[in-house]
Amino acid sequence: MPAMAHFLPLSRVARLVGESRSVIQRMIRDGALATFDGMVDMNELLRVFPGVQWEDDGEFKRVEEIKAKAFSRRVMERTLPDKEVLAERLYEMSKEFAAAKTLLLHYDEVLRFLEDKLDDVAEAGAEVANPAVLQAVVDLKQWLRQELDATPKETERAQALLAQENVMRIMSAQVTILPAGHEFLVEGNDTLLEAALRAGIPLNYGCSNGNCGECKARLVSGQIKKVHPHDFVLKETEKAEGAFLLCSYTAVNDVVVEAGVSAADDIPLQSIPTRVKAVEIINDRIAALHLTAPRSQRLHFLAGQWVTLNAEGVGGEYYVASCPCEDRHIELHIRRDNRPFARHVFEDLAKEDVVRIDGPHGRFVMKLDSRRPVIFVAWEDGFAPIKSLVQHAMSLEIAESMYLYWAAGDIGNCGGNNGGNSVGHYQDNHCRSWADALDEFSYQALDTAAGTAAIAETILAHHPDLQRADFYVAGPHALLQALQAGALARGLSPLGWHGEVIE
Ligand code: FES
Repeated sequence: MPAMAHFLPLSRVARLVGESRSVIQRMIRDGALATFDGMVDMNELLRVFPGVQWEDDGEFKRVEEIKAKAFSRRVMERTLPDKEVLAERLYEMSKEFAAAKTLLLHYDEVLRFLEDKLDDVAEAGAEVANPAVLQAVVDLKQWLRQELDATPKETERAQALLAQENVMRIMSAQVTILPAGHEFLVEGNDTLLEAALRAGIPLNYGCSNGNCGECKARLVSGQIKKVHPHDFVLKETEKAEGAFLLCSYTAVNDVVVEAGVSAADDIPLQSIPTRVKAVEIINDRIAALHLTAPRSQRLHFLAGQWVTLNAEGVGGEYYVASCPCEDRHIELHIRRDNRPFARHVFEDLAKEDVVRIDGPHGRFVMKLDSRRPVIFVAWEDGFAPIKSLVQHAMSLEIAESMYLYWAAGDIGNCGGNNGGNSVGHYQDNHCRSWADALDEFSYQALDTAAGTAAIAETILAHHPDLQRADFYVAGPHALLQALQAGALARGLSPLGWHGEVIE
């Protein structure tokens, strides 16, 4: 990298300009934003985003909020780094500041030396009566003075950007995971594992509290710090090679870490006693069941998977509708039907009751490296796994654009395959708010009364070319068949097709 330039990693660039990483990546791919070794030069950032007011950006506001809510310890703990990490980051930055200041003093000395030298040359020119040399030296000195006195271009914006970035570097550290190449920021008191899961990156882990060793990783560069003790014992040889536990450590500065990412088959089956946080009867046909996992035992699963629920001796299988990035909260959508568990939820289940979760199961999961447009299609309560996948894709911030189609009938009156048992677009408000909040997100509600073939046709009509796309569909077999055939005919790669039959 050229000396004295100031480079920023992509996650930070995205935060600074208030865009998702997928937008920044598209700009890089299209040649609109230049990078150097995957980093963006500060001057390039100022050039490409002339309209951004760094001073008004979220990070400063967040600091202001923290100050305003200083009385609230929980907010402080969630947002501010561990005290020692904070001290380390400040120390690192003060070292950089000292180095920059020393360099400036050195430049200042060299300049003064240069001026003296020029005076010497001018004197020598005068002695040999060489007016051309004399004039050249005078011109050079004048130019030097002018340049030094001139205000550098974009000083104010550059200063604001640097100040903003410095705040970000104190509040968070960037993590790069090898070999997958995932990137995320660690904020507040989070361990590297918590921050990765929050960002939707399913790193390998087991107990999440330092006992099993499943989250073992290797530090490639940067500095980490233990924030939770662990009982699992690492061998001295492993430690010498940089091994550490993701669930015990946080990042002091920007780090590169070698760690494994879970695929659906890698996740061990778990049995977790959760508590009912709320039974939300959304309409006559469907309820959202909100569960909370114990502090020491969050559910390890991937978006799109299903689990078995058991309460008071009755059980049932349901897709998880929440994102794995949601910490201990687990949401499931329970259709009102003849299954005993559904009856139990609608009639008896109450806040604080215990619901045991066993699982997860299934391979209807997100492709983590998809940087293409993603099309999600849900039929009736097939919306549950799709909702989880959509939220996962949003937290990953890598999909170029997202299209969500949700087919449902009028409540209790479905013309499709559900025998007059439609659940309706029961979380339509969520879908609309995603579309409102994200530029690259579109949502369309469809009516199942049209039938699977017509619905498949409607969706495909919006996407004549599917060579660069990923499809996730949860619904009846007939819908999957019609969509898959049509999508492949429009160029979809067979690897881009992900279907889950939910009748
Ligand atoms: S997840 Fe078990 S030790 Fe980290």
